[in-house]
Amino acid sequence: MNDQIEFNADLPWVEKYRPRTLSEIASQSMTVQTLQKFIEKDSIPHLIFAGPAGTGKTSTAYALIHDVLGTDKILADTILERNASDNVRMDTRDEIKNFVNHTGMFQPKYKFIILDEADLIPKAMQGAFRRIIEMAPSNVKFIFMCNYIENIIDPVLSRCAIFRFFPLPFHFFSKQIDKICENEHIFINDEVKDAIFYISQGDMRQAINLLQMALSLVFEENQSKKRVFLHPDIVYQISGFLPLKTFKEFSTALYQEDIIKVKNILAENPSYSSRGLFRQTLSWILKQKFDKYKKEEIISKIGEFDFRLTLSADPTIQIDGFISELMILLEGIN
Ligand SMILES: Nc1ncnc2c1ncn2[C@@H]1O[C@H](COP(=O)(O)OP(=O)(O)OP(=O)(O)O)[C@@H](O)[C@H]1O
Ligand SMILES: [Mg+2]
Repeated sequence: MNDQIEFNADLPWVEKYRPRTLSEIASQSMTVQTLQKFIEKDSIPHLIFAGPAGTGKTSTAYALIHDVLGTDKILADTILERNASDNVRMDTRDEIKNFVNHTGMFQPKYKFIILDEADLIPKAMQGAFRRIIEMAPSNVKFIFMCNYIENIIDPVLSRCAIFRFFPLPFHFFSKQIDKICENEHIFINDEVKDAIFYISQGDMRQAINLLQMALSLVFEENQSKKRVFLHPDIVYQISGFLPLKTFKEFSTALYQEDIIKVKNILAENPSYSSRGLFRQTLSWILKQKFDKYKKEEIISKIGEFDFRLTLSADPTIQIDGFISELMILLEGIN
């Protein structure tokens, strides 16, 4: 091991630590086992991978291809990848048709068409895939990937085996993070891990990016040491959340209806974001013991303010309104 740590901020860790084989995919065990069975039986259907961001859909697609073809090398006549923005172009449909029907000297055992963001492909265009799938030779396999399966039309769904991906539970998240930290000679304590998990909520891409970003901020001051030490506050701050201690002060001041103090706390922590504050308040409210109806009333208010931000409302005014509403709703509770 080197005396000094190395930190290569140019290489995104999400790529460096992307699983290469199905056996390296964490947590999605039902999916992995079934795909491995398909390979064993040499019978792969068309596939749909559906689920939230950063849970391993793209990684699993490429890991499957790796395990089927036995190589990392992506060959132009074996794999075609397109996403929703490509698919609105008419020539993409022709490109896919040509790829499907291409019969060269070398006929690979399997050819894969990966269609990312399939839920964003217009329904009329999805309809065209139904026909292409039907006409495709048996060695051509489609892999559709999407976040919202509700937006995929039935004729496509019924021609594919559907696999749902789930946010990574803490146990798997923690193992992945430990692996990266060990490899990068980083030390993070449980508080930092909790903070990353609290923010990323099972989205492993966000978790790894957050870890790499936070470390790049403290790297210089730690350069001469053998290990980098990270404080959880940094993780909260770069994600637009208030550090835990500060949030505690914020919530106490809310209960005390001390609007000046609440506003001062926010003014002293300019790195928080409105949506970060809403999310943090939401998870705090969910943990409170007070009346169920009161809780529902507050949660619905948070939803309302969050929605207004999506309509480009002024965040400063919305935060002021949010604080006032919360104080009114919390009145007399504590
Ligand atoms: N199940 C998993 N096991 C191990 N690493 C994972 C897993 N899921 C995600 N990751 C990590 O997160 C990164 C992003 O994952 P991936 O691109 O597969 O997500 P995705 O589900 O396709 O997300 P999106 O819906 O945004 O396209 C990977 O490079 C990998 O480092
Ligand atoms: Mg993806």
